[in-house]
Formats: sequence, C-alpha cells, structure tokens
Amino acid sequence: MDEDFNPSTTACLHLVSAFLAMEPTDCLISLARECGGGSITMEVQSFIWEECINRAACNINRPSDSYIKNFLKKVIVDVESNCSDVLDGLYEQYAYYLTALKDDSSMIANKRVCKSISFLFPDEGPSRPTSKLVVPLRCSLDMLEGDTGCSIWPSSLFLSEFILSHLELFSNKSCFEVGSGVGLVGVILAYVKAKKVVLSDGDFSSLANLKLNLEMNQLITGTDMPDRTLQDPNLMECIHLSWESASESRLRAFRPDIVLGADVIYDPICVPHLIRVLAIFLNPDKSNPCQRRGAPDDNDLAFGSCLGRTVYGDASNTKSQFDTSKKGTVAYIATVIRNLDTFHCFLKLSSENHLSVVDITETQKPLELLPYMQSYNRSSIRLFSISFSGDQNSGMVAG
Ligand SMILES: C[S@@+](CC[C@H](N)C(=O)[O-])C[C@H]1O[C@@H](n2cnc3c(N)ncnc32)[C@H](O)[C@@H]1O
Repeated sequence: MDEDFNPSTTACLHLVSAFLAMEPTDCLISLARECGGGSITMEVQSFIWEECINRAACNINRPSDSYIKNFLKKVIVDVESNCSDVLDGLYEQYAYYLTALKDDSSMIANKRVCKSISFLFPDEGPSRPTSKLVVPLRCSLDMLEGDTGCSIWPSSLFLSEFILSHLELFSNKSCFEVGSGVGLVGVILAYVKAKKVVLSDGDFSSLANLKLNLEMNQLITGTDMPDRTLQDPNLMECIHLSWESASESRLRAFRPDIVLGADVIYDPICVPHLIRVLAIFLNPDKSNPCQRRGAPDDNDLAFGSCLGRTVYGDASNTKSQFDTSKKGTVAYIATVIRNLDTFHCFLKLSSENHLSVVDITETQKPLELLPYMQSYNRSSIRLFSISFSGDQNSGMVAG
C-alpha cells in the first residue's frame, strides 16, 4: 500500500481535469502514473474510481461512455503489465462497458460529446487550494463538423487564458466575437463580466450548438429574456453573421469596444471578407480612413510611431493598446499560422485597410491556466491586437 498517496496533489487535480476535458487517454495514463509516483498504485486506482468514474456517473456533463471505456482499458492494461492488482470496481465497470458498447459504432454515430475545460488559477498559498473555473461544452469529435465550428480549437483556449489574465481589459466592455464556434470565449467573457457579449457565427449548426452551450453554462441568450437590461453581465446575444454578407450598417450598429476571434484566419477565400468586417468595426469612419474616433493623445502618438514596421522587435512601445481608457475599438485575434500565404494575405489586406496588426503573444503572455492539457500546444499560437491606424502604411509589429 502507498502510505504517501495524497489526493490533493497537483498531479491528482490535473488527472481529473484532463479526464473531464477528454484529453487523449495516453495523457491520462501518464498523469495517473505521476499521481502514484511512477505507477498506477491501488490508491491511484481508487482515486480514479471515485473522482473520475463514479463522479462522472452522477454528472450529466460527463465524458462519453466510449471515452471512459478506453480509459479503463488503458488503466487495466498498464496495471496488469506491471503485474499489480487491478481494483475490482475498475474491472466490473470495464466489463459493463464491454457489453453495453459492443463496438465503437456508438461513438461514431454520436460524435457530440461534452468536454469540461477546467481553468486552474495559480495557487494562493498552501492553505488555499487552487481555484478553478470549469466550462462544460458540447462539441464534436469531428473537427470539420459544422464548418469547423463544433470543435474546440486551440486558439480559443489561448484567447480564453488571455482574457482571464487581463480581466481589466474586458470587464464592463462591449464585446463582439466573430466565428464563435462552440462558445468558449463567450462564456469566459461573461465570467469576467463584460458589459455585453455578442457571439456570432456563419454556420447554422455551429450556432445551434453554441446556444446549447450557453444554456448549459446558465448564460441565457438575449432573445430568450427580453426584459433583461444591457447592464446585465450575463446578457449574451447569439447571432448568425456571415462575413461575406453582413451589411456595413448592420455591423456598425453593434459598436463594440472589443472584437475577438479565435482560429478564424485559415481559409484564404474568407480572409478578405473577414478583413472587411474587422475594418468596419475598427474604423470609426470608413469613408475617411485618416479620421480616428476620439482626439489623439500621447498614447496614440506613441503607437503611431511604430506603424509601418514589419519587423519583429520590442513591442513595449505598443502599450497604448492596453490603455483601457483608449476610445478606439480594438480586436484581439488568436490564431495558429497553418499556411504562411494565407497569413501574409491577412497582413497585406490589413495594411491596405489601414489596420495595424501587433503581435502581443510574448509581450502580453497569458497565464498558463490549462497546465494539465498535454494536447494543447501553446507555442503554436500567436495573438494579435489590431486597431485602426489611419496610416496608409500600416504593418505588423511583433514582440
Ligand atoms: C476553426 S473554427 C474556430 C471556432 C472557435 N472560434 C474556436 O476557436 O474554437 C472557425 C469558425 O469560424 C466560422 N466561420 C468560418 N468562415 C466564416 C464566415 N465566412 N463567416 C462567418 N463565420 C465563419 C466557422 O463556422 C467556425 O465556427
């Protein structure tokens, strides 16, 4: 028996968080070994039984049965291969799934699953356990379902970490997200008390799934609660908005303080339309590109001085982007650069539309709130802040 096993360790917290997020089962096995100091001891098995399997049985927002079955199988194989005893409960539960789920066809037929993303906030000392925010999301195992909008993409994890790391930028702000997909960023914006959150997507099935996710997170859409006021921090709106067909007058009516987008720069055909939408939101008067909303101040001038640079360098002179008193609308776009040509097209069109793109990935690095998520490769993601410059030669500055 492992006398030293402590279920309150970070490793145990990470194991449960990874299970709820439906991380690859190999990752769960490595975390389970970490919990037991190198092997999946009887105590770790009991912990898995109590905190993952049993708890999941009582939770409507649980990982799929197929996923739990695969996890159980990997635990049993790992323990047996070390010639150790397997907890009876784990054998019995696995046997149950073997008969209940004869093959994985149920998994293919039912591609929608519930992943719960746990954001773990830094420890505030030994007496206070790590606090966490758990966001359940209905999503698809098929990354392409709903025009890609039914899966959780890594950039939305990064953007969520960014929002949670810079609450002051978003609280009491009116926010508009393009290509919202499953809605993680929207839930986080509501959590940090944005004044108003409009989530949008051009795909109807993604939008339907997004609304279910808002309901699951007790965030009711505006149309369902007409008597709510705009000051209500939970007031969310979900709208169908295609970048190709949204009219300028419709877009201008939203007047957001902040525009957000995660993993929306990937289709070269859509990029010009996305830039048009951003330009309308960010440019206070599109007919006069040199007119900025509000009078220029020192920060504006400081920011203006770095326009036109396309080299990577110190972006400390871009701090005006984080001055919350700044009047202009700013966009935060997180993306994985999968295709350089597409990304360069994005930059070129931004410049032509007098949008200044600043790479803030390093200078405004968010806290790592998803440390258990081994499948989440933060280093592949870039975060840009975009604003209207009024300068013909806007370019990209990077930190
Ligand atoms: C890769 S997914 C990212 C979803 C979500 N932001 C995330 O990071 O998890 C791209 C999203 O943009 C939406 N989208 C793609 N092209 C669009 C267009 N032309 N107009 C509106 N939405 C679009 C898709 O429906 C999808 O929800």
